[in-house]
Amino acid sequence: MVKQHVLLLGATGETGGSILNGLLADPESFDVAALVRPTSAKKSQVQDLVRRGVTIRVVDLDGALEDVVGSLAGIDVLINAIGAGGQLAQLTLAMAAKQAGVKRFVPCAFATVAPPGGVMQLRDAKEEIYQLIRRLYLPYTVIDVGYWHQISFPTLPSGRIDYAAVVLNMIEIHAEGTMPTMLTDLRDIGPFVARIIKDPRTLNKFVVAYADVLCENEIFALMEEMSGEVIQRKYVPADAIIDSRARHMATLKVEPDNGAVRFTSIMDDYMYSKYVRGDNTPAYAAYLGYLDARALYPEFRPRSFRDFFAELLEGKGVKPYPALDLAALYQRE
Ligand SMILES: NC(=O)c1ccc[n+]([C@@H]2O[C@H](COP(=O)([O-])OP(=O)(O)OC[C@H]3O[C@@H](n4cnc5c(N)ncnc54)[C@H](OP(=O)(O)O)[C@@H]3O)[C@@H](O)[C@H]2O)c1
Repeated sequence: MVKQHVLLLGATGETGGSILNGLLADPESFDVAALVRPTSAKKSQVQDLVRRGVTIRVVDLDGALEDVVGSLAGIDVLINAIGAGGQLAQLTLAMAAKQAGVKRFVPCAFATVAPPGGVMQLRDAKEEIYQLIRRLYLPYTVIDVGYWHQISFPTLPSGRIDYAAVVLNMIEIHAEGTMPTMLTDLRDIGPFVARIIKDPRTLNKFVVAYADVLCENEIFALMEEMSGEVIQRKYVPADAIIDSRARHMATLKVEPDNGAVRFTSIMDDYMYSKYVRGDNTPAYAAYLGYLDARALYPEFRPRSFRDFFAELLEGKGVKPYPALDLAALYQRE
């Protein structure tokens, strides 16, 4: 089989790290390089990539277009896993990918399923890239993954899973807790992506990958059954989610550089889309035209939320974003 030359942006990040593992696990199919910005080229995480056999290509996405085009020479597939705040840096990359003849551009989706047009600010930023891709007639695949298991669990009263929680005392149930939502283990994004980018059926398509479809009431019940603990519940009604979302968006208009309000506003959007509107479901994904990765790759068994939670109880969980204090940014009521 001819190897695909894959270039990954974001290999030192959470989503990109999972994708990197998925690609490196299939060396017969992929030759892997990482796109790194000049300011990060000397980071120890980048040196770790080199030790794992990854070639490094350094480029400044804010620099000259021809330099970005040059950094894509010989690349078949370009995968973008850039942090939530950096989406628009992909505009230059998409233009460069067209010029360089990239055969498949995977923009940075990797989020929940939601429609464009005012539901989620993050989804609307991603939409700018998707629209540019289509104007360019650039071959693409958009991959969404639901919400990670790793950020979908409440904490337990004993505190025994606090070590893996991004935010502590997370006991909120949103809008009655009955809305089903797609979930994926962060570690399974990579194996899904490796399958999707080899597959001609997914070219110029949206694909959704997920392990479970659970509502918050089911997650709390499952965790109580497995842990033997009773989790306190703080109910957040739909009206409160809508009010909070409007308030934080209004504040952002006057304080666009307020990082805490921006992060909280992104979280408001997620709660509104997932739990008030109910966007993040297989049925709505199908309606929007997504292919279902579970149907495409029935042989692949992603980790269930139950299995993930069993690992957490055994002390084997890993907290995402270890260097970031997201709890300090999240302004919950
Ligand atoms: N589905 C979910 O539950 C969920 C959860 C979180 C995020 N997401 C989605 O996943 C996507 C990726 O987010 P993440 O949180 O996984 O990312 P992350 O951990 O914050 O990592 C971001 C990566 O992008 C790189 N990067 C940022 N700006 C760059 C630039 N200008 N040039 C080159 N590299 C740059 C960073 O490299 P450096 O080493 O240089 O910093 C890092 O490798 C987001 O867009 C978000 O929508 C989804």
